[in-house]
Amino acid sequence: MRLRISSSLSFLIELSVVLCLFSLVLAGRDFYKILGVSRNANLNQIKKAYRKLAKELHPDQNKEDPKAQEKFQDLAAAYEVLSDSEKRKIYDRHGEEGVQKNANMGEGQDPFESFFGDFFSFGGSREERNQRPRGGDVVMDLWVTLEEIYSGNFIEIVRYKPVARPDKGTRKCNCRMEMKTYQMGPGRFQMSQEQVCDECPNIKFVNEEKLLEVEIEPGMRDGHEYPFIAEGEPHIDGDAGDLRFIIRIEKHKRFERRNNDLYTNVTISLQDALIGFEMELVHLDKHKVKIVREKITWPGATIKKKGEGLPKYENNNIKGDLYITFDIDFPKKELTAEQKEMLKQIFGQESKFKNYNGL
Ligand SMILES: *[C@@H]1O[C@H](CO)[C@@H](O)[C@H](O)[C@H]1NC(C)=O
Repeated sequence: MRLRISSSLSFLIELSVVLCLFSLVLAGRDFYKILGVSRNANLNQIKKAYRKLAKELHPDQNKEDPKAQEKFQDLAAAYEVLSDSEKRKIYDRHGEEGVQKNANMGEGQDPFESFFGDFFSFGGSREERNQRPRGGDVVMDLWVTLEEIYSGNFIEIVRYKPVARPDKGTRKCNCRMEMKTYQMGPGRFQMSQEQVCDECPNIKFVNEEKLLEVEIEPGMRDGHEYPFIAEGEPHIDGDAGDLRFIIRIEKHKRFERRNNDLYTNVTISLQDALIGFEMELVHLDKHKVKIVREKITWPGATIKKKGEGLPKYENNNIKGDLYITFDIDFPKKELTAEQKEMLKQIFGQESKFKNYNGL
C-alpha cells in the first residue's frame, strides 16, 4: 500500500517537473520568480529585490559557482523588463518572447549596457584595477530628509559624465618603459631604457547624460557611503574612478534623531497639563501617534512611545522609540481675586520656596 502511494507520488512529481520544464521553455524565464517578488509588486519592491540579489549573485562574489554568470544575467534580464512599465505589461501578457519580439521591432538597444559596473564594489576587481591607471574618485554629499530615512526612497540623479567616443586619427597609448639592448660590436652591448607606446584609435570625451539612482534605505545613518563603481572621473588609458555619495541627513523641524530613537517637543496648555489631554502627533510618514494622558504633566516631562522611532537599518522590522518632551504654555491673563481663591481651594498647596542650584 505504502509502496503504491510513494511510487504514484514520485510519478506525480516527475510529471510536474516535466510539465514545469515544458512550460518554462514555452513561456521563457519567470522574471518574477528570479527576482523573488510577487506579480503585483510595485516598482520600489522590484528595485529593492534587484539590488539585494545583484549583490548576492554578483559573479565576483560567487567564483565557485559555474552558473554564477548565468544567474546574474537572468537577474539583469528580469530587472530590465520588470522595471520598465511598458515591457512589464508586454511580459505579463506575452511572456519573455513577447518582450523580445517587441524589442526587435523597436530600436535595437543593448539591454545589458547600463547594467554592469553600475553600483558594485567588490574586492577582487579592485586589485586588478590597481595595475591600470585610474581616474579620480568623485565624492559628493547627498542631502536627504528624515522622512526619507524613515520611509525609504529612491533618488534619481542626472549626471553629465564624460564618456569616451571614437575620434579621427590615432593616439599613443599603453606607454611603458622597456629595456633595449644594442649590440655595439663583438662582445659589446649597450642597454638603454626607452619609452614604447602602442597606436590606439583616437578617442574624445563627450558629455553624456546618465541617470543614477540612489536608494535611501530606511534607517540609513548620516555618513553612509553609497558607491557607483566607475562613475567617477574617466581615464583615457585606464578605468574610471568611482563616484561616491555620502548620505547626509537634513535637520528636521520637529524631530531629532539619536541612533534609532526620535525626540520631539510638544507644548501643551496649563489646563491640559493639569486635567489631562488627548492628542495626535503627526509622524514622519504622516501616520498619527495617539497620546492620552490623564495624570498631571509637568514642564520637562517625557513620555516614551515604544516602536515609534526609526527602523533599524540592518533590520527594518526593529524600530527605535519616540520620546516626547512637554513644555507648558502658561496663561498670561490676570486672574480675579475670586479665581485665585478657587485655585487655592483646589490645590491647597502651602507656599514653599526652595532655593537650589539646579546644575
Ligand atoms: C526640544 O527642546 C529642547 C529644549 O529647548 C531642545 O534642546 C531640543 O533640541 C528640542 N528638540 C527638538 C526635537 O526640537
